[in-house]
Amino acid sequence: MGQLRDLKDLMIHELKDIYSAENQLIDALPKLAEKANNEELRNALNHHLEETKRQKERLDEIAGELNTTLSGSNCEGIRGIVTESEKLLKEDAQPNVRDAGIIAEAQKVEHYEISAYGTLHYYAEELGLEKVANLLSETLEEEKNADSKLNDVAKSGINQKAETH
Ligand SMILES: [Fe+2]
Ligand SMILES: [Fe+2]
Repeated sequence: MGQLRDLKDLMIHELKDIYSAENQLIDALPKLAEKANNEELRNALNHHLEETKRQKERLDEIAGELNTTLSGSNCEGIRGIVTESEKLLKEDAQPNVRDAGIIAEAQKVEHYEISAYGTLHYYAEELGLEKVANLLSETLEEEKNADSKLNDVAKSGINQKAETH
């Protein structure tokens, strides 16, 4: 275990965490999409899966810039949310209610990522790592868009449909 001596060490520590998160999400998002009843929700999740794969590649590029590797960490935060979503998918749920639950879990993930990438972007700017900051900013925007897309899908009717049975 390396020491955390400065902000750059901390940034690499946090990059490893989010790298593990993205890897876990590449496995988890297709499972959520598969169980989604609403087509718009399924499309949003599948679209974000493709973005997530590119985000992982972006992190590999950042690792190259920083002469480090980001593998070998285990993001317990995302592991917890993924475990919760797996439990939800096992429930005997009415399809619209399940969709509302899938959105709730997916938004927890996006908020975690927005927080992580927001901090990382700030660190990169602080350290004068312009290219890294730009790459992180691209991902941060995708995470924000994914979150607001999920909001739109929820408000377009899924939550109302879930109210009645
Ligand atoms: Fe992501
Ligand atoms: Fe995301």
